[in-house]
Amino acid sequence: KKIAIINGPNLNLLGVREPEVYGKQSFHDYFQILQSKFPKVELTYFQSNIEGEMINEIQRIGFEYDGIVLNPAAYTHTSIAIMDAIKAITTPLIEVHISNIHTREEFRHHSFISAVAVGTIVGLGLKGYDLAIQYFLSK
Ligand code: DQA
Repeated sequence: KKIAIINGPNLNLLGVREPEVYGKQSFHDYFQILQSKFPKVELTYFQSNIEGEMINEIQRIGFEYDGIVLNPAAYTHTSIAIMDAIKAITTPLIEVHISNIHTREEFRHHSFISAVAVGTIVGLGLKGYDLAIQYFLSK
């Protein structure tokens, strides 16, 4: 199976950025753990701080892959453009948030992405990505 992970803005700083909220592990290190845990899965990883680049990637892989695991980061709460891109594609998508956005500031409580995702995983740390992959493999 082909599964893509897409991370949005500031997630290139995982491990360094607010470690009390997002943990101490870099995504690069975690991605290597995922690759060794799921050796039969063709896993790809893309990160961008730029909304349009994320949309280009969603469109590029969105008719070909078996699943997309997306953490849109702050664009979760603002981006109708990313929501529309997900509506346009055929690949099912799971939304992941490392922190529990519902226990944080009010402006993080609403997601434009949840309505167009198969499901959403929040607050389980990096394990959320692992669980999303397991879901796609069970299909
Ligand atoms: C986040 C939550 C967002 O509110 C925030 O803007 C992020 C990360 C998370 O993974 O917990 O950048 O998506």
